[in-house]
Amino acid sequence: MSEVVKLERHDVIAIVTVDSPPVNALSAAVRGGIFECMKTAIADPEVKAIVLTCGGRTFIAGADITEFGKPPKPPGLAEVLVLMENSPKPIVAAIHGTALGGGLEVALACHYRVAVKEARLGLPEVKLGLLPGAGGTQRLPRAVGPELAVKMIVGGDPISAAEALKNGLIEEIVEGPASGGEAFARKLVSEKRPLRRLRDDDSKLAAAKADISIFTNAVAAMTKKARGLEAPFAAADAVRAAIELPFDEGLKKEREGFLKLVSSDQSKAQRYAFFAEREASKIAGVPDGTKPRKVDRVAIIGAGTMGGGIAMSFANAGIPVTLIETTDEALKRGMGIMQKNWEATAARGGIPADAPAKRMALIDGKVGLENVKDADLVIEAVFETMAVKKEVFGKLDQFAKPGAVLASNTSYLNIDEIAKETKRPQDVLGMHFFSPANVMKLCEIVRADKTAPDALSTAVAISRKIAKVPAVVGVCDGFVGNRMLAQRGKQSEKLLFEGALPQQVDAVVTKFGMPMGPFAMSDLAGLDIGWRSRKDRGIKSEIADALCEAGRFGQKTGKGYYKYEGGSRSPLSDPDVEKVIDETLQKLGKKRRTVSDEEILERMMYPMINEGARILEEGIAARPSDIDVIWLYGYGWPIYRGGPMFWADSVGLKHIADRLSHYAKETNDPSLEPAPLLKRLAAEGKTFASLAEKSKAA
Ligand code: CAA
Repeated sequence: MSEVVKLERHDVIAIVTVDSPPVNALSAAVRGGIFECMKTAIADPEVKAIVLTCGGRTFIAGADITEFGKPPKPPGLAEVLVLMENSPKPIVAAIHGTALGGGLEVALACHYRVAVKEARLGLPEVKLGLLPGAGGTQRLPRAVGPELAVKMIVGGDPISAAEALKNGLIEEIVEGPASGGEAFARKLVSEKRPLRRLRDDDSKLAAAKADISIFTNAVAAMTKKARGLEAPFAAADAVRAAIELPFDEGLKKEREGFLKLVSSDQSKAQRYAFFAEREASKIAGVPDGTKPRKVDRVAIIGAGTMGGGIAMSFANAGIPVTLIETTDEALKRGMGIMQKNWEATAARGGIPADAPAKRMALIDGKVGLENVKDADLVIEAVFETMAVKKEVFGKLDQFAKPGAVLASNTSYLNIDEIAKETKRPQDVLGMHFFSPANVMKLCEIVRADKTAPDALSTAVAISRKIAKVPAVVGVCDGFVGNRMLAQRGKQSEKLLFEGALPQQVDAVVTKFGMPMGPFAMSDLAGLDIGWRSRKDRGIKSEIADALCEAGRFGQKTGKGYYKYEGGSRSPLSDPDVEKVIDETLQKLGKKRRTVSDEEILERMMYPMINEGARILEEGIAARPSDIDVIWLYGYGWPIYRGGPMFWADSVGLKHIADRLSHYAKETNDPSLEPAPLLKRLAAEGKTFASLAEKSKAA
C-alpha cells in the first residue's frame, strides 16, 4: 500500500484517498499510489463503484511543479488517467478545496464528479506558462462546452462549485467530500447508471463544430491582455483541436504543445515567479513558529486615494474597517468614491449586485484619531511628509490599544524615525501599498530597526489575507521598488539630453513587456510635483522644467511628454515636445545623437539591476527573488521574464557588469559603475540565484 494514497472498502464502494500534504500535488508517489489503488479496486469483484477523494485542505491541486524540467518518473499521469477512464466500474471524483490543473484533469477522467459548495475548479496552467498536459484541453470542452472551456483554460481562473454545477462539470454539490462522494456512488450503483466517458461525448462541441466563430470569439476575448505571452495562444490551439480533431489526435496535439511550453524560457520564468511569491512570505530572521497577532478590525487614517483603496482591499476580504478623516466633508468624499468604485465593478459583473452595500457596511467612517482605539492594526495613509507622519504617530501612541500594529503607508520615508515618535517602536512598521491600492497586489512590508518579529508576521499574514503579495524590505530611501525605479528615471531623463525622444524610450520599455514607459508614467503621475520639489531644492532638469513652464503637467492638462486628445488617456507623440528638447539642448550647447534601441534597453534595465545588487548587499532585501516579486506585482514587470534579477541571470551578469562600466565611462556617470556584489558575481561566473541557494543552505 502507498504512503500517500490509501484504499478502503465500504462493502461495494471502494474509497481511494490521496493524502500528500500540503496540497496533494501529483508527485510520482501520488501518481503511483492512485494507479495501484485503482488497479486493485477495479480488479476486486466485490467493488461496484470507486470514489477518489483527498485528505487535508484540498483535492489534488495539480502536477507537482517541482518535478517539471526533471527526468520523468513513471507512471505518467496520462497512463493513470487511461486506466481510470477505461475502468468498467464508475469512478466518482469527490472534490473539496481546489481541483486545479492536473487535479481537475484527474477528475475529468473520472466518470462523475461531485464537490462541496466551497470548492473551486480550474485549469490554471497558463499562469505557469503551460497548457493542461493531461487531457484537460480535450475533456473540459466536452464537459462544459468550448466557450467556458476557453475562458477557464486560456484565462486560467477557477470557477465555483455552483458554476461548475450549472455548466455540467459536476453532478452534485455535496456536504462532505468523502461521505457525499460515497452516497453519490451508491446512487450510481442502485440506479445502474451508465459510465459517462467525456472522451466519447462530443455533444457539447456540436455548435462550435458548425460555427468556429463561437470558439474564435471566445479566444479573442480571453487573449486581449495576453501581450507577449506564448501559453494562452498555445492553449487556445489545443482547445481548437478538441473541436476539429478526434479525441486521440487532439490529445496528441495537446501533448506536443505542453512539451514545447514546459521547456520554454517563459514557463521557466513563470514557474520561478510562482515559488518566488511563496518564498517572499517567509520572513528571513524571524524565529520559526512566530505567530501573527489577531486582527479583527483595522483602522485606516486618511480616506484619500491610497487610504480609500486600502480600505476597499480590507472590506473586499470581509475585514471591518474604521476609516478616519479630519473632517466630515473629506470622509464623505472618500466614502462616496469607494461606493462608486464598487458600484462600477458590480455593473460590469465583477462582483455580485449586493456586494457594494455589504462592503460599505464593513466601513465605519469616523472623524478624529481617537477612533483608532478598537483597531488591532492601524494603517496611516496621510500626506507624504515626515512632519505630518510624525504628528500622526505621536497621537497614535496615545490612542491605539496596546499590542496594535501601527503601520505607515509611506513610499520612501524612514520608518525608524517615525517609530521614535511612539513609546512602542516594536509595533511600528511600514506597509507600502501601490496605487490603485484596491487593484495592485504588492505590499512592501518595511521592517524597522525595532520592529518585533510577531508584528512583522502579522503584516505579512494580513496582506495575504487581503489577497496582496507581501515582500519584506528594510529601511532606505524608496525601499526596494522605488529605489530601483529612481535609477531608471535618472537614465531616462539623461537619454533625452543625448538625443532620444520620450516615445522612443517608452516604446523600447513597453516592447520589453512593461505596461508603460517612464515618460507615459510621468505624465500619468503629473510633472508638476517633481517641478515644485526641484524648485524648492534649487535643482534643475531643463527639459522637464521647460515643459512645466509651458503648462504641460501631464495627462491632467492634456499635455506633458505627450499630448492627449479629447480627454483620452492614450499618449500621442507631440512635435512640440521635440521642439522643446531641441531648443533646450541648443541653449545648453549640446548636440543630439542617434541613440539605439539596444542602448536604451540597457540603460533602462541595467542600472536598476545594479541598484538591486546594492540592495542585496545592504540586506534591504533578503533574497533576489523578493526583488523580483516586488517588480512583478508592484510595477507590472512581465511575468514571462521572471523579474529583474531573474532576467539579469538569463542575460549574464558579466555582460551586464561590462556594459555598466562602459556606460559609466561613456556618459561620465560613476554611479553606473557595477556594484561590488555584481562585480564579484560576474567575476566568479555566478548568478543572483546562487545567492539564494547559499542562503537556503546556511
Ligand atoms: N506543486 C508543488 N508544490 C505546490 C503546488 C504544486 N502544484 N501547489 C502548491 N504548492 C506548494 C507551495 O509552494 C507551498 O509550499 P511552501 O509551503 O513550502 O511554500 C504550499 O504548497 C502551499 O501553497 P500556497 O502557499 O500557495 O497555499 P494556498 O492555500 O494559499 O494555495 C493553492 C493553495 C490554491 C493550491 C495554490 O498553491 C496554487 O494555486 N497552486 C498551484 C496550482 C496549479 O497551478 N496547478 C497546476 C499545476 S500544472 C499542472 O497541473 C500541469 C498538468 O497539466 C499536469
